[in-house]
Amino acid sequence: MESHPSFDEFDEINSPRPAATAFEGLAEKSLSRRGFLGALGAAGVAAGTTALTPLKANASSRLGFKPVAANTLDTVTLPPGYSWKPLVRWGDPLWSEGPEFDPLTRSSGAAQELQFGDNNDGMEMFTRDSRTVLVANNEYTNRYITYGANPSKQPETSDDVRKAKAAHGVSIFQIRDGSNGWQIVLDAPENRLITADTPMQLTGPARGNALLRTKADPLGEQSLGTWNNCGAGRTPWGTYLACEENFNGYFSSSNHGLALPKGFKRYGIGAKGWGYNWAMTDERFDIAKHPNEPNRVGYVVEIDPFDPTSTPMKRTALGRFKHENAEVVLSANGHVVVYMGDDERGEFLYRFVSAKKYISGGDSRNLLEDGELYAAKFHDRGKGEWLPLTPASTGMGSKAEICIHTRQAASAVGATTMNRPEWVAANPHKAEAYCTLTNNKNRGKKPNKGGDATPVGGPNPRAKNRYGQVVRWRPMGGDHGALKFAWDLFVAAGNPTVHSDAFAGSPNITATNMFNSPDSIHFDTRGILWIQTDGKTSNSGDFAGMGNNQMLAADTNTGEIRRFMVGPNECEITGLTWSPDQRTMFVGIQHPGDEGGSHFPEGGEAVPRSCVIAVWRDDGGTIG
Ligand code: FEO
Ligand code: CA
Ligand code: CA
Repeated sequence: MESHPSFDEFDEINSPRPAATAFEGLAEKSLSRRGFLGALGAAGVAAGTTALTPLKANASSRLGFKPVAANTLDTVTLPPGYSWKPLVRWGDPLWSEGPEFDPLTRSSGAAQELQFGDNNDGMEMFTRDSRTVLVANNEYTNRYITYGANPSKQPETSDDVRKAKAAHGVSIFQIRDGSNGWQIVLDAPENRLITADTPMQLTGPARGNALLRTKADPLGEQSLGTWNNCGAGRTPWGTYLACEENFNGYFSSSNHGLALPKGFKRYGIGAKGWGYNWAMTDERFDIAKHPNEPNRVGYVVEIDPFDPTSTPMKRTALGRFKHENAEVVLSANGHVVVYMGDDERGEFLYRFVSAKKYISGGDSRNLLEDGELYAAKFHDRGKGEWLPLTPASTGMGSKAEICIHTRQAASAVGATTMNRPEWVAANPHKAEAYCTLTNNKNRGKKPNKGGDATPVGGPNPRAKNRYGQVVRWRPMGGDHGALKFAWDLFVAAGNPTVHSDAFAGSPNITATNMFNSPDSIHFDTRGILWIQTDGKTSNSGDFAGMGNNQMLAADTNTGEIRRFMVGPNECEITGLTWSPDQRTMFVGIQHPGDEGGSHFPEGGEAVPRSCVIAVWRDDGGTIG
């Protein structure tokens, strides 16, 4: 078994936080489980003034499947009566001229340019007329797998870099349901790979700003490519949103003594990259030569899934940070509201509100070009508000600067430092939204990279939090455009078989549904919340009995949570969408075997491959 640093670990190695802070003592504050529950108002318990619905004990269940036990099998485990099979795997061709995946070479640059990318994450399904198109992010590559055929297991040649750049980005392809179930339609007109080299437009307040100008693009209006697209989103007008997350790790410096430009440290951009070594063949990634290139990534990218000739649009108005996903809803009077997490320890939860209103059937092309950004402030007693990020509130010189240095803007207004905000999902049946706060070992121990304290309390009630939680909020008056909201924790993950204090978790966590590190979350059309995990899979110590990463279904009215799926070894479950008839669920299985312990999905001695799997009920019924 091999062990490799995660994105977070790379970040901390390259930009260490101060070791101790004035509030360090809080880390040692040991909350009893009872005190913890009182403090967090878990799922509405005892929180005093929150407007949220309490858990209803003994309510009849809306979940119609038998719970799956935790396990550490190198396969997908589902409830009785359900089946699965891969729809598309890393290296499967999207065009008939594309070769099948070659396990000996693990693909080449030219082959990968015709094949599904690696490490699929967020995805969405789009339908038009009789066509069904799946759009999926290909977040990153694991060097030890991608380059497993190289003796060094590292990128060695220019073709190695070409392959990785093609394996990143967004894959778009038509799928069709036939006698063999859902399959890729090779050569369909929509099929397209958007990669780290695809030309894009920079739009919104930061377009043309001096910080975005480069030698190749002196106007600061056009960038090349997108990478490390984590979560996704969709707009009411039928476009896809790909969210650039750990974009920083791809840059490095040929001058190791380079004095870093202002703002780089906050985003983890430094002289040492994370081993992708794209600067070997593409000097855009050398910050000594092109110091503004990192300012051109870290955005939300809007893509038209039905027009393969369209230019992806980077929406700088939605801010620059380590975007997880982009959950789009409408305010009561028709403005577009986008909720977004910034996945790093002690960073913030954001909201964008468009300047113009959405009109069904109207011209929506520029709705995400202009609007106001806000960062969330969580107050005690279940109250919260959105703090606008404006030149006046932040003291920053311009809207453009706020859209480029968004983290600094949120720090300036005193937003609440969160435990790694990952996905946001909005309930389709009522005005409320949920955000996974995946974990934060630094909570109460170290500040964020900007030096903001990360005290224990509010929606982040546990020091050195290894398990994570899900916070939810309801906007005042049921209007996502409102400035104020009420919040509580829907669930605090934990292990009641190991701990009897706060780390046992909230009351809706038991020995049979426990998990750690909630990450990707989605509502289905019935209003069931699906929770996918990206946590520790040691199945021992703090994580004893939790098994591999998993997917659970939750009834947000009662608080009930039930495990639906267990994934293969060392995978993360991330990304979820449904067929138009809702009878097939598509689930992302990302990076199986990233520590060397999986051969999923083929088994035997096969190279492990990230994939999207189809899941269905054997009797053809509705899932869940
Ligand atoms: Fe790509 Fe925050 O997960
Ligand atoms: Ca994630
Ligand atoms: Ca994660």
